[in-house]
Amino acid sequence: MDKFIIKGGPRLKGSVDISGSKNAVLPIMAATLLASGPSTIRRVPGLADISHMSQLLGELGTSVSQGDSGMLRLEVTDESHSHARYDLVRKMRASVCVLGPLLAKRGIARVAMPGGCAIGSRPIDLHLRGLRALGAKIELESGDVIATADKLKGASIFLGGPFGSSVLGTANVMMAAVMAEGTTVIESAACEPEVADLAAHLNAMGARIRGAGTPRVTVEGVKELRGADHEVIPDRIEAGTFMIASALTNGEVKLSHCRLDDMLAVVDKLRDIGVIVERDDGGAVVASARRLEPTDVTTQPYPGFPTDLQAQLMTLLCLADGNSAITEKIFPDRFMHVAELSRMGANIRKEGPTAIVTGVKRLIGAPVMASDLRASAALVLAGLVARGETTVNRVYHIDRGYERIEEKLRALGADIERAPEE
Ligand code: EPZ
Repeated sequence: MDKFIIKGGPRLKGSVDISGSKNAVLPIMAATLLASGPSTIRRVPGLADISHMSQLLGELGTSVSQGDSGMLRLEVTDESHSHARYDLVRKMRASVCVLGPLLAKRGIARVAMPGGCAIGSRPIDLHLRGLRALGAKIELESGDVIATADKLKGASIFLGGPFGSSVLGTANVMMAAVMAEGTTVIESAACEPEVADLAAHLNAMGARIRGAGTPRVTVEGVKELRGADHEVIPDRIEAGTFMIASALTNGEVKLSHCRLDDMLAVVDKLRDIGVIVERDDGGAVVASARRLEPTDVTTQPYPGFPTDLQAQLMTLLCLADGNSAITEKIFPDRFMHVAELSRMGANIRKEGPTAIVTGVKRLIGAPVMASDLRASAALVLAGLVARGETTVNRVYHIDRGYERIEEKLRALGADIERAPEE
């Protein structure tokens, strides 16, 4: 297990190229289970989660080969195994998005129930409700969900849950519906850009999906899908993390391959507290030259402020000039970073799903422990500005979702090293 050793202080300056989106590419890889013939996916980031998905698809009969500069070629060669084992699903919850395509193409999917994780309880009831509405029979056996159907039929499906829409739930139902007989209408669908990117890939494969990226998605079933060539959208969460890194260090960072239009809530919040964000030639320049203002923020489904940037924004607000309130409306328990930031001198009080952050003059380097992907990113950010040395342990969490983060930060002037954990 590796750790990061960070010496706080340097202002970040220069350019960073944002990688393809992890959360777009994972369901897009799963979608290739639906195709007859090879698919090519471009700008696939080099991440542990992508390797896990490649391994899972391999077990499900897909040959996966890697080309140059983030190119993946996938082709199903054997449809006889439809079991996503617990060993793999437990490593990566997004494995659950093979459920829809396996059911649609093979008539059977056996997928281990994912269970909870460090960010809280993560049910899949909405996924199952949607698949049932399409005519699937769902059973639970030895911790696995077994979904079967001779034929799926289009239906009208409401997919809203207690915390709003579901990203992977929408992906699963959309992928199950593409080869169903007739028309499916998904209401209260997730509007995230990653869902729209999946639909773009499915349409390139021959599917007929309209409205992806809005709360109503209409899918007209087709008989067959072919392989397709697709370039994944840039990762808006990685982009947001680098924007915050620039703001925290009073730096000036240019981001290329960054779609500001996918990040309007984030840009609005950053500008609101005094960060300069300007469009620049297909990307953005983010700078800050002063102590930032406090703010209140609530995480929401897209187009609201993303839960996946809540921890990183908290680090920024730890150093703002006053009190901020951060309310988590998607995963109310996603606050594992609070205790670790407090070890670095942050002043944060938790009240239910809200954290009250009182800005301090400085953070102080300390050994801290990463608990999940975005919490780890928040700790790395804190290390960039803390006085002295910060050691972030268990960085395998960060390797799941950030491609070469220490190299990218070093190229901007950060003092960060990877070392084996003793
Ligand atoms: C996706 O997870 C992302 N993962 C998560 O990214 C992200 O935090 C999340 O969406 C929210 O934006 C991938 O795309 C691979 P949800 P997903 O279903 O789809 C509740 C990261 O750091 N819910 O949209 O699993 C759920 O408990 C991560 O990259 C139900 O109640 O999330 C939550 O409160 C981690 N029933 C809310 O909905 C269900 O059946 C939204 O979850 C499904 C979800």
